[in-house]
Amino acid sequence: MPVAREPSRRSAVEPFHVMSVLAAAARRQETHGDVISLCAGQPSTPAPGPVLAAARHALDTEILGYTEAMGIRPLREAIAGYHRRRDGVDVTADDVVVTTGSSGGFTVLFLAAFDPGDTVVMARPGYPAYRNTLQALGCRVHEIVCGHETRYQPTVAQLEAVTAELGHAPAGLIVASPANPTGTIIDAGELEALARWCEAHGTLLISDEIYHGVAYGRECASAWQTSREAVVMGSVSKYFSMTGWRIGWMLLPQYLRDPVDRLIGNLTICPPADAQFAAVAAFTEAAAAELDGHVQRYARNRDLVLRRLGELGVGEIAPPDGAFYAYFDVSRWTDDSVAWCAEVLERTGVALTPGVDFDTVDGGHTVRLSFAGGTEEIAEAMDRLEAVLAP
Ligand SMILES: Cc1ncc(COP(=O)(O)O)c(C=O)c1O
Repeated sequence: MPVAREPSRRSAVEPFHVMSVLAAAARRQETHGDVISLCAGQPSTPAPGPVLAAARHALDTEILGYTEAMGIRPLREAIAGYHRRRDGVDVTADDVVVTTGSSGGFTVLFLAAFDPGDTVVMARPGYPAYRNTLQALGCRVHEIVCGHETRYQPTVAQLEAVTAELGHAPAGLIVASPANPTGTIIDAGELEALARWCEAHGTLLISDEIYHGVAYGRECASAWQTSREAVVMGSVSKYFSMTGWRIGWMLLPQYLRDPVDRLIGNLTICPPADAQFAAVAAFTEAAAAELDGHVQRYARNRDLVLRRLGELGVGEIAPPDGAFYAYFDVSRWTDDSVAWCAEVLERTGVALTPGVDFDTVDGGHTVRLSFAGGTEEIAEAMDRLEAVLAP
C-alpha cells in the first residue's frame, strides 16, 4: 500500500476570501455581462509609454539571460536616484536590491532577517500576505489592533505594550504607509519615533512604501529619513502602474545585503530580465508626467466615492490619505462580510472585497472598495450600490 503524503502544516495559511467573490463575479459576467469589479488592488492602466518603448527595445537588443541576483546596475541606479529625489536621502545603487515584485522581496527579507519562532508585529487590519508568509516560514505574528484614533497605524505606545506582554522586544515590525486596506498614511513624527524605538530595541523596522506617489495631500515620510537600520520596500506595481511586471526593490542595511544576495541567487536566481530593462524607464520625467495623471484620476474617484458613501449613511470610513482604497464599516447591514459581498454582487453586479481578508477578527463588518478604475465605471457602481443600500 502506498503511504499517503499530506501537504505541509506550514502551507495551511488563510485563503483569500475575495477569491470566492471573484469566482461568483466571473459566473455573473457570463450570464449578465454587467460586472463592475472594485476588488482589484491594481491600476486599470498599462505601464507608462516610456516603459513600453524600453521593453520593445530590450526584446530587440538584449540577450535577456540571467542577470545579477541583486538586479541590473542601471535599474538600481535609477531607483537610488528616485529615492534621492523623493525622500532627500543619500541612497546609492549599492543600497538597492531589485526583487521579483515586493512580494518576492518580503519572502527573501523574512528569511534573511528572522528565524522560526521570532515574533513580528503588524497592524490589524493589514495586508494579509505579511501574516501568511511569516506564518508559513514559522515566525510568530503579533497583530496590533489599530483603529481610527491612530489612523489605523501602529504607535510606539502599542509597541511598548507588546514588548511588556512578550517580555522582550519583537524581532520585527512591519508598517505600511499608505496602507492596504485602509489607505491611511502614518504621521511623519510617529514613523520617526517608531524607527528610533526599533533601532534602540534591536527590532527590524520594515517600512512598506510601495504606495508612495499615490497620496492626496498628506506627506509620505520614508523610514530611511530617520534610520538606515530599517528596510524600505518599494515596487513598480502601484504608482508606476506595472503590477504584472513583477519588479520590486528593497533599501537594505549593510548587514542584510550578503544574506539577501545568497538567498535570491538560490531561490529565484534573479528578477525577470525583460522587466528589469524596461523598468529603468519608469523613473524618467516622461513616465512621471503620465503617472501623475493617473493619480489625479484616483483623486477624483476618491472624492466621488467618499461623497457617495457618506450619502449612503456609511458610518466609519478609514481616511484614505493615499493608495486607492476605501475601507469602511458595513455593520449597519451585516456582520458576515463574505456573505454580504456575495449578496451585493448578486443584486448589483458590483464586486467588493470582504474585510475578513485584512482582519480575521473584526473584518466581518468591513469591506474594501478599490477606486483605481475609470471614473464613469465607479460612478455607475455607486449608483447601483445606492439603489440597494440607500437608507
Ligand atoms: C501593502 C502591500 N504590500 C505589498 C504588496 C505586494 O505588491 P507587489 O508584489 O506587486 O509589489 C501589495 C499588493 O497589493 C500591498 O498592497
